[in-house]
Amino acid sequence: MTARMDVLLGAQWGDEGKGKVVDVIAPGYDIIARFQGGPNAGHTLIFDGRKHVLHTIPSGIFRAGTMNLVGNGVVIDPVIFLKEIQALKAAGVDVRDNLLISRRAHLILPTHRALDAASEADKGTSKIGSTLKGIGPTYMDKTGRNGLRVGDLELPDSIDRFRALVKKHERLLALYDRPGAAKEAEEEWLAAAEVLRNMPLVDSEHYLDQALRSGKRILAEGAQGTLLDIDFGTYPFVTSSNTISAGACTGLGIAPNRIGKVVGIFKAYCTRVGSGPFPTELNDAAGERIRQVGHEFGSTTGRPRRCGWLDLPALHYAVMINGVTELAMMKADVLNNMPDLQVCTGYRVNGKTTDRLPYDISGGIEPILERVDGWGDLSTDVPLPTGLERYIAMIERHVGVPVTLVSLGPDRAETVHRRTALVH
Ligand code: GDP
Ligand code: IMO
Ligand code: MG
Repeated sequence: MTARMDVLLGAQWGDEGKGKVVDVIAPGYDIIARFQGGPNAGHTLIFDGRKHVLHTIPSGIFRAGTMNLVGNGVVIDPVIFLKEIQALKAAGVDVRDNLLISRRAHLILPTHRALDAASEADKGTSKIGSTLKGIGPTYMDKTGRNGLRVGDLELPDSIDRFRALVKKHERLLALYDRPGAAKEAEEEWLAAAEVLRNMPLVDSEHYLDQALRSGKRILAEGAQGTLLDIDFGTYPFVTSSNTISAGACTGLGIAPNRIGKVVGIFKAYCTRVGSGPFPTELNDAAGERIRQVGHEFGSTTGRPRRCGWLDLPALHYAVMINGVTELAMMKADVLNNMPDLQVCTGYRVNGKTTDRLPYDISGGIEPILERVDGWGDLSTDVPLPTGLERYIAMIERHVGVPVTLVSLGPDRAETVHRRTALVH
């Protein structure tokens, strides 16, 4: 029996705190591998009084002895990738020894970014609220079989392939009345692509297979969150990849029967950036308080995040879709000293009560909220305050899996490993 690969992913709309947890648990793994998304992600790590934000590079990069792999399911913008590497270098991390890139990962071109912007502008008020990193157009080219892959950079005709794709994009940009929109970014992109070409490129499915056979421990790091999944999220207000655990199989070339634990990351409340349904959204003082105390502003775009109460049916859905085996609850400290908390236990849609997000909610959706007691201040000592334990017990009861880690602050050290609670 070979080792298995664990998966860690977002159980809400992204920004749950995945980066922090990966950094905390990375010493227990030999390899951390990203399986989807790209520079739309912003994973924040804080330790030794310093903050680092990663976009494409896995969050195990600061742990000596941990290999980090950018898998085939990821889309890479060489310019952003190079900037990340330079920022890491400035922070004293040389990635040459512990970063590998799959040849099968697709490349984001400047024209993909221009197409993303053009498409969003064209949608007007119904825009997705994309991060404008070119994610959608790049995945469209992947599934449309037009894409340029990292491995293509090693081929003698790579520049011809690049030019052919740019030409195709120029025709589309002309339709949007934006010809030449990405022209001036080309030179920098080609220079960064050259750097990428000289980095350790691997056939990552074979690399990971070998690693598992030799007993190495692998953690797959998700980006975005379950409710942004292209199939199971709040379509069309989603990202363009499979953010769920199944995406770790296709995004890394790992067979489903080799998946071990699936760790779902969620906040003690909910946030969302960009457009789309958000049943528990708070447009009041409580929402503003959470935004300010939780510093809920995007790590990638700086946009204010929409804030709301914890949505248990949505979390339960994430547990089901991903086969979550355990949960990590983040940012409990943000709710400190709030005497009145609310939690969503169902929805009212067209006068009917349900615990499922229906296909069509254009007619509106009303959350059914239950008041729960809050707690005072927190410390990173166990036991946790009774109020918080009660809150966690209610979540476990509702979703049927244990909360094994509780995060009480952004720093690596502000983390409590809970005993594996028995699910009631
Ligand atoms: P990710 O995309 O899932 O990795 O999450 P982000 O990094 O985009 O957003 C999470 C934010 O919350 C970051 O600013 C983290 O530093 C911060 N954070 C993570 N865990 C905690 C926590 O337990 N408490 C507080 N107050 N902040 C946290
Ligand atoms: P991490 O990994 C939160 C959102 C965008 C937009 C939608 C589509 O940091 O959790 P895209 O650029 O992917 O076409 O945008 O998805 N989005 C995220 N929201 N966290 C993220 O990543 C996100 N990546 C994309 O705001 O609504
Ligand atoms: Mg983020």
